[in-house]
Amino acid sequence: MKVTVIQGPNLNMLGVREQNIYGPMKLEDIHAQMRAFAEQNGIEIEFFQSNLEGEIVDKIQECLGDSDGIIINPAAFTHTSIAIRDAIAAVQIPTIEVHISNIYRREEFRHKSLIAPVCAGQISGFGPFGYHLAMVAIAQIFNEIKAIQEQQKQQNNA
Ligand code: DQA
Repeated sequence: MKVTVIQGPNLNMLGVREQNIYGPMKLEDIHAQMRAFAEQNGIEIEFFQSNLEGEIVDKIQECLGDSDGIIINPAAFTHTSIAIRDAIAAVQIPTIEVHISNIYRREEFRHKSLIAPVCAGQISGFGPFGYHLAMVAIAQIFNEIKAIQEQQKQQNNA
């Protein structure tokens, strides 16, 4: 099973940008922890970061037939991008939305996520640990998919 991790605009600046909100951890350190979890749990993992909306749409489309799950922090596009929402809806791959900060405690324009309604779930406000929680959630979803596939195999053999 494979998960693709998609990081939106300005997340390449983690560790530098607004440390009072996002903390000191760099994106590569977050990814190293996710990779370790993936290896321990037999999950293949790929990372992608872009500041461009169209590139994120392209990446989501590329997940079709390649990835079984998506973890995405769409960053500012969370609040604006119908295109990213439509791409997630189109590929129908279980997707988990992550935010480092609690978007509901911040400015009003951050309270609305256009992405959440097409996701399996949303994690918001736990800092970089939210990415670990998302890995636990995707591992659980993969286990459920595998159990259903196993059941179907047994029914076909019966
Ligand atoms: C963010 C929250 C967004 O509102 C913001 O634009 C970001 C980061 C977060 O992880 O808390 O860039 O997605």
